[in-house]
Amino acid sequence: MSHGSATQSIHGQRDSHVRPVTYPIYQTAAFAVEDSDGFAHINDYGGEDYFYTRYDNPTIRHVSDKLAQLEHAEACLLFSSGMTAITTTLMAFLAAGDTIAVSKALYGGTLAFFNNWAPRFGIYVLTLDEEQLYALDQHAPQAKVVYFETPVNPRCDCLSIRRVVEAAQRIGALVIKDNTFATPINQTPLDLGVDLSIHSATKYLGGHSDITLGAVMGRRDHLAAVFTARKVFGGIPSPHDAFLLDRSLKTLELRMIQHNASALRLAEFFSEQSQVRQVLYPGLPSSPSHAVAREQMRGFSGMLCIELADLTAAKAFCDHLQIALHVAHLGTAETLVSIPILTSHSMLNAEALAAARIAPGMVRISVGLENIEDLIADFAQALAAV
Ligand SMILES: Cc1ncc(COP(=O)(O)O)c(C=O)c1O
Repeated sequence: MSHGSATQSIHGQRDSHVRPVTYPIYQTAAFAVEDSDGFAHINDYGGEDYFYTRYDNPTIRHVSDKLAQLEHAEACLLFSSGMTAITTTLMAFLAAGDTIAVSKALYGGTLAFFNNWAPRFGIYVLTLDEEQLYALDQHAPQAKVVYFETPVNPRCDCLSIRRVVEAAQRIGALVIKDNTFATPINQTPLDLGVDLSIHSATKYLGGHSDITLGAVMGRRDHLAAVFTARKVFGGIPSPHDAFLLDRSLKTLELRMIQHNASALRLAEFFSEQSQVRQVLYPGLPSSPSHAVAREQMRGFSGMLCIELADLTAAKAFCDHLQIALHVAHLGTAETLVSIPILTSHSMLNAEALAAARIAPGMVRISVGLENIEDLIADFAQALAAV
């Protein structure tokens, strides 16, 4: 049957024999059904049929399945940002009257949710230090959920995943952990008993500074609850961004091997510089986090933190860099520096900064993929200017 020019220009020729190397972008807001009975499973999670991209989409599902495999999870859901992944997941498991135990040391945006937003919905937030997280039966026996991250942004301290999980199991709490700084190449928390692993995929998973995405991985029954919440809150990414993440994942392992190696070299370099008060990198044998990191990580990642004399020194150092960029971001091919009190943790008051042990002279460094000799030379000349 020949169609009119409008029909032809809309539908074109569909070829079922093309076999693209890259998974295609299903850039469509909705999917038609064969007949009216086709909507029978519209509310199911993970079914074979697609209905509406805010619910699910083949490109997004394709990347999610890859990420689930990488993180040793049954399933994964993608989000339009790391913060959407975090807040939607928490809303899926918490209700008014519930208590959540959270680490004092977290990414600033996550802390802002716990400090300023969760209480507005009647959720009790208990903010705990490392030792208290290992003794939840004493400090938060009523907690329904435990939330932490390791390595911690920005200090790169490592908490024992095993000890938090054991403590949570004693009180029957769900464990949610941010794995952004490590990536599944360096650390797979679900293997250690964590229930849900969360990423800002804007960082290493994306790795090229061109997408803002989030991901949650875990058991299928847990993710069914998150899926229901994602449909309502609407935080699914665009298929095009999911496609770009798929592109990035192809080089994730190679990139992380290089990030790990260059960060160790730079941590060793900074350890020898008189202007640097402390170098925080779990890969250094002298680091207080080294033993824990060795127990739970395969590589120590590309993030490190140095402490200079004060904020003036930190600013001078960042302002003199010529290769590294001064950016509120991390986990990319470019080396990036930021001063946490001005960026990632700028929403914290003095008390919260002290609790997270973040000093004004700290500079967070996300070591990129440039030649290491160039990076060392750049950091050396910037230190000389401090
Ligand atoms: C550890 C960590 N978790 C979560 C987030 C939030 O991710 P996004 O910026 O993609 O919303 C960030 C952002 O910097 C982060 O560093």
